Amino acid sequence: MSASPRDDARKPVTLTKLAEMRALGEPIVMVTAYDHPSAQVAEAAEVDMVLVGDSAAMTVLGYDSTVPVTIDELIMLCKAVRRGLRTPFLVGDLPFGSYEASDEQAIATAQRFVKEAGCDAVKLERGGASVQRARAIIDAGIPVMGHVGLTPQTAVALGGYRAQGRTAERAAQVIRDAQDLQAAGCFSIVFEAVPAEVTDLAMPLLEIPVIGIGAGPSTDGQVLVFHDLLGIYDGHKPKFAKRWADVRTEMVRGVKAYSDEVRGRTFPGPEHVYSIPPEELERLHELAPDPDSSPSAYDW
Ligand code: KIV
Repeated sequence: MSASPRDDARKPVTLTKLAEMRALGEPIVMVTAYDHPSAQVAEAAEVDMVLVGDSAAMTVLGYDSTVPVTIDELIMLCKAVRRGLRTPFLVGDLPFGSYEASDEQAIATAQRFVKEAGCDAVKLERGGASVQRARAIIDAGIPVMGHVGLTPQTAVALGGYRAQGRTAERAAQVIRDAQDLQAAGCFSIVFEAVPAEVTDLAMPLLEIPVIGIGAGPSTDGQVLVFHDLLGIYDGHKPKFAKRWADVRTEMVRGVKAYSDEVRGRTFPGPEHVYSIPPEELERLHELAPDPDSSPSAYDW
């Protein structure tokens, strides 16, 4: 994909830029990406932030939840995304079990995402013990994005994939978690599947950019899963995921058309084949062993 002059004019998005956007009330656009082509699409669409989410576990790796995905699997995807991005701010998701045990574990994992994969920042889920892990990673010099509300890594403990903060106490807890993550130094927080009224209440209490996914319109920005918004993924579509394209149907149509042409022997056509100069073809025929005297093509 070649860069247009407009692409070249776009400057890489920085933490300062994101804070400025929040201050100016400019909506921040974030999308997930999991490989080089999806990163190139995010770049061409001029989004502000890209997340290599652990949702990759389900969208591209075929697991049935985000829990099994490993650090190595996500690092490989982050590297591919990094190679496809120039301007968006790149966040790598710390997978389940890669940061909870100790500050040392959290720092070591975050360092891999920055050092090996070239991420600008990492994201971790939940308040509680994750607040201290976020603080430790930030103290080690790596920007951290928090994630509250529905935190898929611990969905079982939350009673499943459902909106969070639907009682006064739970809503207050979501807001407190966000405030704690902000106090720990997070540069931004994802609010996932939180009632819009709860987000409205939280917004004036927070100073850092809040990026919503199923959290209503009052956040500073929105994030969606690439496969959900383009209609690539065949699995469950959450209520909050609007679809702007039906890419999967188009992909199946294309592969089916290819398959029909192979079976009907109409592909490849003359425009898809290479040729050899006629004089070389003639020489090749001369070189060809006489089928009557030579039993094997190995005699060539
Ligand atoms: O993994 C992911 O894609 C996420 C977003 C939904 C925020 O965490």
